[in-house]
This record gives sequence, structure tokens and C-alpha cells, in this order.
Amino acid sequence: MTAVANELKPILVFDSGIGGLTVLREARVLMPERGFIYVADDAGFPYGGWEEQALKDRIVDLFGKLLAEHDPEVCIIACNTAFTLVGADLRAAFPQMTFIGTVPAIKPAAERTRSGLVSVLATPGTVKRAYTRDLIQSFATQCHVRLVGSENLARLAEAYIRGDAVSDEAVLAEIDQCFVEKDGRKTDIVVLACTHYPFMANIFRRLAPWPVDWLDPAEAIARRARSLVPQAVDAVHPDNFDFAMFTSGAPDFPTRRLMQGFGLRA
Ligand code: DGL
Repeated sequence: MTAVANELKPILVFDSGIGGLTVLREARVLMPERGFIYVADDAGFPYGGWEEQALKDRIVDLFGKLLAEHDPEVCIIACNTAFTLVGADLRAAFPQMTFIGTVPAIKPAAERTRSGLVSVLATPGTVKRAYTRDLIQSFATQCHVRLVGSENLARLAEAYIRGDAVSDEAVLAEIDQCFVEKDGRKTDIVVLACTHYPFMANIFRRLAPWPVDWLDPAEAIARRARSLVPQAVDAVHPDNFDFAMFTSGAPDFPTRRLMQGFGLRA
């Protein structure tokens, strides 16, 4: 039987702000038949500096409402800061739902590095998570991993994407800790462990003191989601379905314009 497109449940993509759009854009390529709901907890942005228990409670509570309201097929938590903290709690609180997470791509970086020097650029929250330390312990003990917790980069990425001017000095001050030289070797991979950062990858490349691979996990997350979402042969994307929700209830004009650019109704 041919599946009818609008009978398919949508995919919910979640982030604290606009960073999850970097994952949404890959997910859409692989799941063109699905509708997408993009949820930005902009009232809680940035997540990087939150106290852990308060952030956990906030996100679990929010998902209680989102799942009841939208009944998605799966949820993609397109936020390292959120998933490394609350992924296990979400799965425990909503066992009937599939959550696809985003975690720092430390394992692929450790497999690919030639110099053995890898840096992880993330929010201060992600850098201090036990989850992140465990990833290093499990997959990268043979490497020298430098964790760089950036206070301002998620905010700068939001400003940049909205069209505000962002100075090279401000960006360089956030990324320069990623570049390590040790015994004649140099960092060759920087993991983009915040979904906001790929939006600025071109600036990073231009400002980098030497060329490195900037590892963006968006495509891998989308592939994982595709593998968990049932294929619907012959289904086509429901017209005009995709939309974005903001917990503030009041995204500003540049943000609404950005959403429109991504084909999302705000
Ligand atoms: N985009 C989020 C992440 O992947 C974090 C941005 C923030 O809220 O600080 O970690």
C-alpha cells in the first residue's frame, strides 16, 4: 500500500537556539518525505552556563509538553549541551519515544587524527560534562585532547547568522585555544561540539593559524535518524508543513526571516 504523506508523523528537531538548523538541513536531505518541527528553547538560551539540575528539569518538563502536543515519530536533540546532560533522563521519562542525540564527535576525531592532537570546541556546559570526559576515556586515551569551553561563541554565531557584524578578533579569541603545538606536532582536528558552530566554519577556516579539519557531526546525526525512522515508499513531503516554534513566543524579525529561509513557518 502507498503511504499517504500527511499520515506520517513529523520529526522534531530541538536546540536552545538556531544551532539545530545545521542538523535539520542534513536530516531533510535524508528524510525528504517527512515533515519537520523545529523547536528552539530561546527563552533558555544560552544553555552553556546553566546549572545542571535546573537545565535538566527544564528540558524534561518541556518535552512532556512537546510530545503531548506534536506526537513526533522521533526527536533529534540537536544540541550537545542538552543531550550530554539530559539524554538519559529524556529516555527514562519517555520510554516510548526515540531520542537521537548529539554528542561531541570525539570517537571519529580520535580515529582520524594523524598528529594525535585533537581539540573539542564546545560550550562551557558540554566541556564540564561527565559524558564528555567518558567519551575521551572510552575512545581517545591515545590522543591529547584539548577541551575548549567557549563562553561567547554560541551567541556570536546567533548574531552572525542574523546578519550582525562579528569581529575577527572576537572569534579568534574564542578559537585560538584550540591550536596546540607539542613536540613538533600540531592539532589537526577540531571537533565542532556545539551545533551553532558550523555556521561559522568559514570564518574559523580563515582565521585558523594553520589548516585543520573542522569536524561537524550533522550528517552523521541525520544518518542515524534516517536509520531509525521507517521508510515510507512513495510518500512525498506534506506541502507547507514544516514550522519552527520558539519558547519565548516572540522570535525577532531576523530570526523569523532566517526560519523562512530554511522553509520553516515561525
Ligand atoms: N547548540 C548548542 C549545542 O550544541 C548550545 C548552544 C547554547 O545554548 O549555548 O551545544
